[in-house]
Amino acid sequence: MSTEDDIDTNLSNNRSLDDIVAAHLSRRNVLKIGGAAASFALLAGFTSHGVALAHDDDDDDSDDRCETESHHRRGGRRSRIGFQSVPLNSIDDVTVPPGYTAAVLYAWGDPVSNGPAFEFDASQDWEAQSVQAGMHHDGIFFFPLSKRSSNSSRGLLCINHEYVDQGLLFTDGMDNWSADKVRKAVAAHGVSVIEIRKHRGQWNVVRPSGFGRRITGATPIEFVGPAAGSPFLQTADDLTGTVSLGTINNCGSGQSSWGTYVTCEENFNGYFGWDGDYTPTVKQNRYGITNVGFGYRWFEQDPRFNVRLNPNEANRLGWMVEIDPYDPDSTPQKLTAMGRFKHESAAFATTCDGRAVVYSGDDERNNYIYKFVGSRTVKAARKMGISPLAEGQLYVGRFDAGDAVGDEMGVGEWIPLDPSNPALAAMTIDDILVHARVAGDLVGATKMDRPEWLTVAPDGRVYVALSNNSRRGRTTTVASENPNSVPDDANPRSATGQGNPYGQIVRWSENGDADATTFTWDIFMLAGDPSNPLLLDGYEPGGNVNGDMFGSPDGIWADPDGRIWIQTDISTSTLGIGPYANITNNMMLVADAETKETRRFLVGPKGCEVTGVCTTPDQRTMFVDIQHPGEPSTELSNPAAPQAISNWPDFKPIGEGRPRAATLVITKNNGGVIGT
Ligand code: FEO
Ligand code: CA
Ligand code: CA
Ligand code: CA
Repeated sequence: MSTEDDIDTNLSNNRSLDDIVAAHLSRRNVLKIGGAAASFALLAGFTSHGVALAHDDDDDDSDDRCETESHHRRGGRRSRIGFQSVPLNSIDDVTVPPGYTAAVLYAWGDPVSNGPAFEFDASQDWEAQSVQAGMHHDGIFFFPLSKRSSNSSRGLLCINHEYVDQGLLFTDGMDNWSADKVRKAVAAHGVSVIEIRKHRGQWNVVRPSGFGRRITGATPIEFVGPAAGSPFLQTADDLTGTVSLGTINNCGSGQSSWGTYVTCEENFNGYFGWDGDYTPTVKQNRYGITNVGFGYRWFEQDPRFNVRLNPNEANRLGWMVEIDPYDPDSTPQKLTAMGRFKHESAAFATTCDGRAVVYSGDDERNNYIYKFVGSRTVKAARKMGISPLAEGQLYVGRFDAGDAVGDEMGVGEWIPLDPSNPALAAMTIDDILVHARVAGDLVGATKMDRPEWLTVAPDGRVYVALSNNSRRGRTTTVASENPNSVPDDANPRSATGQGNPYGQIVRWSENGDADATTFTWDIFMLAGDPSNPLLLDGYEPGGNVNGDMFGSPDGIWADPDGRIWIQTDISTSTLGIGPYANITNNMMLVADAETKETRRFLVGPKGCEVTGVCTTPDQRTMFVDIQHPGEPSTELSNPAAPQAISNWPDFKPIGEGRPRAATLVITKNNGGVIGT
């Protein structure tokens, strides 16, 4: 969602600057930093990104071992970036470097398999939408066919559909509001699983396909893990607390080494509201449950979304959801051990003894970064027929100042969230997991500048995109906003009246084993516009990007060669104005992890966000999602003029079409590796 939707609901007093200094002084003798170069030279312990691992064999978990993936093997310091930068632009189309081609593969309304084709007046009903691509594509990963192969010409794509523009979704927008309209909006959320194939150099969706599947906001999903069956998850619809209806606001995502897709439920709070009198609880306030939400008005038509009638329904959202794309009959699972918050990303690593690790951010101003470590090895869990993510330890992150004057490295700690932590003794484990934010408040986690995607690079370093934080360092008279998020070392910038408008990318190293509870971190880069005279707390005004400028990093993905792909989500209420006066369309860039050289690879059409990126195992085909082309600053299009801002990708005559979110296929014309 946009910057402005990510309202601040963290009322805790965590991490004032004094706290950081005090904590640092008490901890500096505990953790020795071996020096940046030394720590980063220990490149063991991580197997991370999906495509390199999708050929994992359940019977031989060699890919789950702690091993060094040679980050160096591909040729020392030579730049891994070889294309010509794409200039900033306001073109209503996708622009890519010379020598590359971007084509549309799968747009909102396209059939998943053998369903009906899209009708451009948006007149189709909820049943049609249930078998067509949802709206607002987001996280995406490629799964080769067959399962344990590294086939790069046939596979499955799992694609998130984050939210909807109800002005575009219906011919007459939100007029004549009805239960059937809500059903269609619910059906336009969730995940697509599609089969795709390259034939004579062209990628197409395979139709019909036995793999083609939509998981929507109404698909039954099973709860697993410690909070399954909890009273917090029991509703009139499911008295057992073990089944959730659907998945909603699927933003970032991840890919496990055992061939599953993990999709993240982010701004679930916005779908709820109530009529009449209802006073939200303190915990509901902490999760941003209000009586207006995003203004979607679902609660008027479906009691499921009426908090007064179904106060626990919102507890069934905000989870990580695991989907087996290779088994179209499988029931997705909500992973309660990984906690409930506004999950943005699922970045995978593996401990030296073969357990899965997942990093995830809670994308809201002044919220936290979490780490989950499975309790069983991937191999053992798979043999038992349970998810390696079903049981394990959840941690929340603290980012503290470094050890010495002039030392650019900070130190960090993963704080366990369970009742054995004295600070959490008053909470049960299911309370901690359902209200992970509250637990994070109690243990002193670091309030971050909106943690969006994370990624684990081949050398084991973990990167997080911190998008922006309009409240960093600001006081406010709005009761629900925290006036106490002063700048700190990991979130160092604030400008009078604007907080941190540009964001930054922080990275850390766990020094050899993803099971570590401490880490060292640094700021990979501060985004910004060098021509902007804003004073950001005296700290690198305009950012320190070595190359093409950007702001509001959101998607981030390290490819198997260690290129760091960065996607931006500058809010459509901010594009082209204020700090973003010089930036009109969102974009994707790529950075070299060592030199930090950054080049712009793609600029999206007007009013879009660029989000979600992956490649085939051979890295010669890249998939990127273009979300909400043509979105107005209100995030609600005028149904009488849906093409007012963008006409991408179909460019139908005015009055006969509408912009559509879509998955792109990007290839290099000479057949080479993308980015080289
Ligand atoms: Fe859905 Fe945090 O972006
Ligand atoms: Ca967006
Ligand atoms: Ca995002
Ligand atoms: Ca975002």
